[in-house]
Amino acid sequence: MPANTQAKELSREQDDVFARAVIYGLSRPRKTLPCRYFYDARGSDLFERITELAEYYPTRTEAGILAAHAGDMTDSLSTGGVLVEFGSGSSRKTELLLDELPDGAAYVPIDVSPDALVQAQARLSLRFPGLDILPVVGDFSELSRLPGGLAARPKLGFFPGSTIGNLTPAMASRLLMRFKSLLSAGGRLIIGIDLKKDTTILERAYNDGAGVTRDFNLNLLARINREIEPVFDLSAFAHAAHYNAREGRIEMHLVSLRDQSFAIRGHRFAMRVGETIHTENSYKYSIPQFQALAGCSGWRPVRVWTDPDNQFSVHELA
Ligand code: SAH
Ligand code: AVI
Repeated sequence: MPANTQAKELSREQDDVFARAVIYGLSRPRKTLPCRYFYDARGSDLFERITELAEYYPTRTEAGILAAHAGDMTDSLSTGGVLVEFGSGSSRKTELLLDELPDGAAYVPIDVSPDALVQAQARLSLRFPGLDILPVVGDFSELSRLPGGLAARPKLGFFPGSTIGNLTPAMASRLLMRFKSLLSAGGRLIIGIDLKKDTTILERAYNDGAGVTRDFNLNLLARINREIEPVFDLSAFAHAAHYNAREGRIEMHLVSLRDQSFAIRGHRFAMRVGETIHTENSYKYSIPQFQALAGCSGWRPVRVWTDPDNQFSVHELA
C-alpha cells in the first residue's frame, strides 16, 4: 500500500479512537475526557505558554534542578547509550541532559503530539549535529519496544514534568513497570515529580491570571469540534481547577454554564447547569510516597534531588 494511503488510514483509525474515547468518557455517570487529548498542535503550544507563566512553578523549578545536577543524572549512561524520553513535548529541559551525554549517544523522544516532535527535532538537530535523534509518535503507555537496533544498547529513561502525576497511582504503577521492561536490565530512570505543598500555590498554578490554562482546558472541546464534529459552544463552559486534598491531586474540570444537550456521532448527551466534565488529574506526592510507589513497581530509588524550597523533586530509579 502506498505510504500516503497508509498515513490516511492511520489518521482515520486515530480519529475513530479519539471519537470512541470521547463518547465513552461522556457516557459515564461522572463525565470525563482523557487528558492525553489535550496535546494537538494548539494544545502543545498552549502547554508551552503555561510553562512560561509566573504562576506555573513546576517547569522552571525542575529546569533549575536539572541544570544543577545534569552531570550526576546522566553518569550511569556509558558510551553509545540511549536517552529515552517519555512525553518529550518541546524537549527544552532535555537539552540540559543532552549536553552531558557520552560519545555516540542517541536520543529517542516519545510523544503523542507529532507537531511537538517535529519542532523539537528541527531545533535539536541544529544544536546537537552529532546526535542520533529517533522520534517515536505514540502513546507511551502502549509502547512495547523501542526502534530497531536500540535494544542491546545501554539506556537511560527520562520522564520529566511530573507527567506521571496525570495518571492515577494505580495507572502510574503499571506505567513504571512497563518502563522497567522497556529500558531493560541495568536501565535507570530519571523522573520529575511535583511535591505536595501549600494549596494556594498549587491552585494558583492551575488558575493563572492570563487564562492560558483555561484556554488549554477548553481546547479539548475545541479539538472535538475540529476533529470529530462541531458540537460544543465553548462560551457555555467555564474552566475550574481545585486541589482535592483527600486524593492529593489538582483536578481540572469544564463546568457547564447552562442546561444543554448535544450529540456526537449520533450519541446524545445532556448536561445540567453546574455539571462538570473532569478533564485532568495532577497528583502531587511527598518524596517517601513516590519512592514507595516506585518500589512497588519494580524500581529501586537511588538518588533524589530537590530545589531549595522543596517544591519539586527529581528521582533516579534503578
Ligand atoms: N516533558 C515536557 C512536556 C510535558 S507536557 C515537560 O516536562 O515540559 C506532557 C507531554 O506528554 C506532552 O507533550 C504530551 O503530548 C505528552 N503526552 C501526554 N500523554 C501521553 C501519552 N499517553 N503518550 C505519549 N505522550 C503523552
Ligand atoms: C503535563 N502535566 C504534568 C501538566 C500538569 O501540571 O499536570 C499539565 C497541565 N495541566 C494544566 N497545567 C499544566
